[in-house]
Amino acid sequence: MKRNMCYKKRIDVLQKEAFNDTHGLKRALSALDLTSLGIGGIIGAGIFVLTGHAAASYAGPGIVLSFIFAFVVCGFAGLCYAELASMIPIAGSAYLYSYAIMGEFIAWIVGWDLILEYFLGASTVAIGWSGYVISFLNDIGINVPAIISGSPLSYNVQTHEWILTGKLINLPAFLIIIFVTLILIVGVKKSAMFNSVIVMIKVSILLVFIAMGVFHLNSSLWTPFIPPNTGEFGHFGFSGVLRGASVVFFAYIGFDTVSTAASEAKNPQRNLPIGILVSLFVCTALYIAVSFILTGVVHYSHLNVSAPIAVALDAMKMGFLTPMVKIGAIAGLSSVILVLLYGQIRVFYAIAKDGLLPKVFAKVHTKYSTPHVATIATGIMASIAASILPIDIAGELVSIGTLMAFLLVCTGVLILRFTQPTMKRHFKTPGGIFVPIGGILSCLYLMVGLPFDTWMRLVIWLIIGFVIYFTYGIHKANRTHKNV
Ligand code: ALA
Repeated sequence: MKRNMCYKKRIDVLQKEAFNDTHGLKRALSALDLTSLGIGGIIGAGIFVLTGHAAASYAGPGIVLSFIFAFVVCGFAGLCYAELASMIPIAGSAYLYSYAIMGEFIAWIVGWDLILEYFLGASTVAIGWSGYVISFLNDIGINVPAIISGSPLSYNVQTHEWILTGKLINLPAFLIIIFVTLILIVGVKKSAMFNSVIVMIKVSILLVFIAMGVFHLNSSLWTPFIPPNTGEFGHFGFSGVLRGASVVFFAYIGFDTVSTAASEAKNPQRNLPIGILVSLFVCTALYIAVSFILTGVVHYSHLNVSAPIAVALDAMKMGFLTPMVKIGAIAGLSSVILVLLYGQIRVFYAIAKDGLLPKVFAKVHTKYSTPHVATIATGIMASIAASILPIDIAGELVSIGTLMAFLLVCTGVLILRFTQPTMKRHFKTPGGIFVPIGGILSCLYLMVGLPFDTWMRLVIWLIIGFVIYFTYGIHKANRTHKNV
């Protein structure tokens, strides 16, 4: 009973906070803005870069099934996010849900984990963006000097050693993060407008690709739909489809950022679930269609390239559309960076507001109404990571961090179903406890499939988090209900 009251009290405090407009951020985002924010954050390096690699190396045409499997994992998590976002519509997302449901320490772990997801996610996509920009400039005769075109480090997964690449810095990746950070300082409504324009561009490009591709399909390329396993786990066959799902999971990351916009959403209890779920469905439909077309116009073995859609256009004798696709991808990846940085800043803001990180990060700019100190700090961290890290290492860390956050959100929903069965939910996931349990198990499954080194990096990240919490946060936390 006491425990039940504890949850109820925490949630009450947060619900009051959510509707107390003294929090300083403006409620400017409609359901359409939120959906667009979700799509802006989802469609990026996953579909424009990773799909070809996953089809060629792991799943063949079965990559379509990998997308469906990854969608199921994200669908469970998306429904759970939507339920919690409708109950506690306040910036801070999974961090604050965990605060209300599981207390300060777990909340800190989740928040620290979300920082990994969003800031490193933005850095990962910036590295992919840099690859597209360099390739596009190359196509038009401008060569970016190699020394400033990539990470100074690479990691050998066989020997577990870091190697110097001879390059100095990934300058384009550094610059795009700085540019997006400046946009984010200027204001959330302007950022949302910038995002909406880009969403229209990238969705149109994928739709044009799908529409053209339908007329060039060669169904014999889909046979066998799942190429036989080569004898090694994860290389084709059913295990390949599952490994493909772990890779293309990255393509779905971003829908959860909608929940970080809760304090700036109009009518958040209705609009947040709409934003989360509609953006997830739209992207899934596009991904399934694009992967069908890709593997239906080019043999999957030819897709292990950084711009698979361009290869498919060549096969369709429509190579003249390639520059358009590259420009679309460059714009599309920019909006993913914007949305992920946006999410990171809002989580940072929420944590700092609670005193677990220095209060200065919760300052809101008097003219722009944005948390400018958190924005600048995030921009600095993400630009440094983007300019020195290799894309694969960053991407896997993002996936494991995200899966852990999803897992904890699903756990939160499950706990509340038992402890607060009658509490009002403006959106309740269908399927009862099957959805959160399915979410927990499927996230665990994808996590287990990630390499041991990635787990070790996650552990190091968490240890750094514990040190900060026990030397700073625990003494400075200021939530009135923290000892409830
Ligand atoms: N889902 C995002 C992307 O694919 C992170 O780039």
